[in-house]
Amino acid sequence: MTSILITGGAGFIGSHTALVLLEAGHSLVVLDNFANSSPESLRRLLELAGPDAEARLTVATGDIRIRDDLERAFAAAPAGQPIEAVIHFAGLKAVGESVQHPLRYWDVNLGGSRQLLAAMQAQGCRTLVFSSSATLYGMPEQVPIPETAPIRPINPYGHSKAAVEQLLDDLSASEAGWRIARLRYFNPVGAHPSGRIGEDPRGIPNNLFPFVSQVAVGRRERLQVFGGDWPTADGSGVRDYIHVMDLAEGHRAALDTLLSEEPQLLTLNLGSGQGHSVLEVVAAFASASGCPVPYELVARRPGDAASSVADPALAAQRLGCRTRRGLAEMCRDGWAWQSANPNGYGTANPLEGGG
Ligand code: NAD
Ligand code: WQD
Repeated sequence: MTSILITGGAGFIGSHTALVLLEAGHSLVVLDNFANSSPESLRRLLELAGPDAEARLTVATGDIRIRDDLERAFAAAPAGQPIEAVIHFAGLKAVGESVQHPLRYWDVNLGGSRQLLAAMQAQGCRTLVFSSSATLYGMPEQVPIPETAPIRPINPYGHSKAAVEQLLDDLSASEAGWRIARLRYFNPVGAHPSGRIGEDPRGIPNNLFPFVSQVAVGRRERLQVFGGDWPTADGSGVRDYIHVMDLAEGHRAALDTLLSEEPQLLTLNLGSGQGHSVLEVVAAFASASGCPVPYELVARRPGDAASSVADPALAAQRLGCRTRRGLAEMCRDGWAWQSANPNGYGTANPLEGGG
């Protein structure tokens, strides 16, 4: 059993990862300020993890930018089991919002990470899994994209993630003993197959998958497909969707690798290696849900690439695991969540209009 601090553990990816880690027998402290999540996700994942899990999960409500909150989180570990590793999910992730509010993104994503790393150093904890993003690759020249592709983000969100990657480079070069995995996620989607936990975006979803789910459940009228003239097989954009449970299991594998090998800085893509177009996602979701997903083709969205697909070979080799769940399962499990929780965890803004 390892004692792990999970920042942002109430969020979409954090909650699924926390469940996988509890099921693996670990002891967790979740530090979250619930800026984009609900404590209900933690209550439900405890239900899924079974009766003995409750004693292994401590919730520390707080902010990664505040030193006292971090100290409190480290101190919340069970007696005699200090935090050995941190999985750092906490952050802001909306590309459009980052263009409007760059200071907020640099503050939370870079400032928060810096504060967390200082706290880790003070505590003598030097094992970290960091949520990075395929957004670092910007407009990729080469698809599938290997980890060696140039880092050229094109928005403030991406810049802030690239800055944290750089900071981690500098830190691991400065002092021996750091064990760090920078995991670059492609497009995480789906939900736990129980439908009890899932993605609960506030307001109008920015991302394709939650938008499609909300159209299928009748919360929104139709999807706008951003561009039908991309140089792809059917003209719509192609992405590498990864089931959130595969992603969660990838975190467990990354942690096992870090803790069992010599100190190192690992940089890995987490994707399936399979590309799917927007229209394929629409068809797969309609089929999984049995509900129509009306859509209209509109202009391209600024900043989008035609295609973004991971080369997952290095992650498979270093972590000894591959993604197991395909698009049909992503849609099936996403629908299990959306249909049972049409308004997410119930935290949606009641003033928000539909359609
Ligand atoms: P999410 O918004 O659901 O989860 C982030 C969590 O962090 C939330 O629970 C939020 O309340 C918390 N948080 C935000 N600011 C905080 C702060 N200052 N202090 C403490 N907690 C704070 O997002 P997610 O989809 O689960 O993403 C998790 C991480 O993965 C993020 O760092 C994101 O940038 C990265 N990522 C996400 C995607 C994606 O498509 N979902 C893709 C690539 C990378
Ligand atoms: C997927 C495809 C759109 C919405 C974003 C971030 C990235 C990462 C994952 C955090 C594209 C099309 C979308 C819609 C559409 N997040 N689309 N209609 O842009 O690949 O990546 O989320 O790190 O940083 O940029 O994901 O889900 O927004 O779009 O046609 O209403 O769906 O054009 O082809 P994206 P997405």
